[in-house]
Amino acid sequence: MQFPHFFVPRAGGGLLIAAVAIFHIMIAHFAVGTGLFNAVSETVARRRGDTALREFLRTHTRFLILLSFVAGAVSGVGIWLTTAIVSPSAISTLIHQFMWGWATEWVFFIVEIAAGYVYYYGWDRLDPRTHEIVGWIYAASAWLSLFVINGILTFMLTPGAWLSEHDFWLGFFNPTMLPSLLIRTVSCVSLAAIFAVIIASVDKKLDRDERGRIVRYAGLWLMSMVLMLPLSLWYFVMVPAKSRDLVFGGAVPMTMFFVFGLIASTILGLYAWFGVVRRSHDVNLPTALTMLAVSAIATGSLEFVREGIRKPFVISGYMYSNSILKTDVPELNRTGILAKARWVVPQGADPRTATPQDRGRWVFDAECAQCHTMDGFNAMRPLVKGWSRPLIDMSLSRLDEMKYFMPPFVGSDAERRDLGVYLDMLDGVENVPPRPESPPQKEPPQRRRQP
Ligand code: HEC
Repeated sequence: MQFPHFFVPRAGGGLLIAAVAIFHIMIAHFAVGTGLFNAVSETVARRRGDTALREFLRTHTRFLILLSFVAGAVSGVGIWLTTAIVSPSAISTLIHQFMWGWATEWVFFIVEIAAGYVYYYGWDRLDPRTHEIVGWIYAASAWLSLFVINGILTFMLTPGAWLSEHDFWLGFFNPTMLPSLLIRTVSCVSLAAIFAVIIASVDKKLDRDERGRIVRYAGLWLMSMVLMLPLSLWYFVMVPAKSRDLVFGGAVPMTMFFVFGLIASTILGLYAWFGVVRRSHDVNLPTALTMLAVSAIATGSLEFVREGIRKPFVISGYMYSNSILKTDVPELNRTGILAKARWVVPQGADPRTATPQDRGRWVFDAECAQCHTMDGFNAMRPLVKGWSRPLIDMSLSRLDEMKYFMPPFVGSDAERRDLGVYLDMLDGVENVPPRPESPPQKEPPQRRRQP
């Protein structure tokens, strides 16, 4: 509650984070996967004396540097920026709880970048054996940075025993940490494989045979996608029952995205086997790009589900999506939320003398606007359109029961009535006469709705 939030008109902060995050996740997964792909393949190429494969990896490295170092670094900073302005309290918690985790991750990241450059510039300067070792250092540090970040991200959905002890290791090695790590590793290597297929299909230096051989080799990696299905099921066994219910029917969009994600992954994995590995002819550029699009859909869908099922919390069982700590709720209900969320009240305004409608809007900004825009994504105006005052008042006292991805209303009874006045006026149909200024407040004015 102690930080102001950044509101994105129409789209909402959640969509902004999602857009940056999905892009970044694709790039970051690609970087980790390509590290593993290149290290293993260079070793394979040396053992088999396969010069075409080795030459191909050299071409591949250029894309690795261009794509992952530039786009990855920029979008990575983008994630910190967007999450920190949209959800500052959550980021603050993550930083404080996992300070040494982040520090460790940054060390791995620096090693990854340094090794990546040595790898890139070392193709001709280093002897093959040393170059191979550098490739493995790159792969290991990139995967280890995923290992650390994955522990912190999964913590947000399943903090597990951390909730009672606030212990770093309990939070890090939480119930979904391992299945999620494996899911992400599969996603990494299959993205790398798709990029390898794309590059093979445009690499002019390869003859037809070599291209076919490399594409089939990459297809073997892509087959790991079929593991998505069992791994995702394992993951969903470990998430809280409430979140699982959302995916298996409780929230239709969640179910749909989950099914999309799994079907897209499985199709890719099966196509890799039947279309790429077994059939000997080329995969052309349009096909390879289609594969990339399908994998983007799969990644986006599963990330959307992962984010969605955490609601109403940003850190499950601890902090609601609107930054309110679960343990603060009783006190906020006593003191009122406007007493704590001072940043929603414009400078110079005094909540005690403001109109109920203004107070209602501030309450809305303090605890609803993180998920609801006024007229855009998940917009408030159409949601309550045509609702009568009694229905609004009733639903405000039962928000968390109405939709279990919403937190309960938090704040004093007077604030809840003010919010009701504000929501009621959104459709512009009728006005409630302003309440007398002095607290304590009486019952809200009752009025009839015109037919
Ligand atoms: C964690 C995110 C989140 C927060 C915070 C949140 N909501 Fe919601 N709310 C949702 C979602 C998601 C829906 C479902 C929208 C839909 O069904 O299309 C929803 C639906 C609603 C509905 C319509 C319910 C129905 O049955 O049709 C109302 C009314 C509503 N919210 C009011 C509020 C108010 C008032 C607040 C602030 C006190 C609030 N919400 C805070 C996510 C949130």
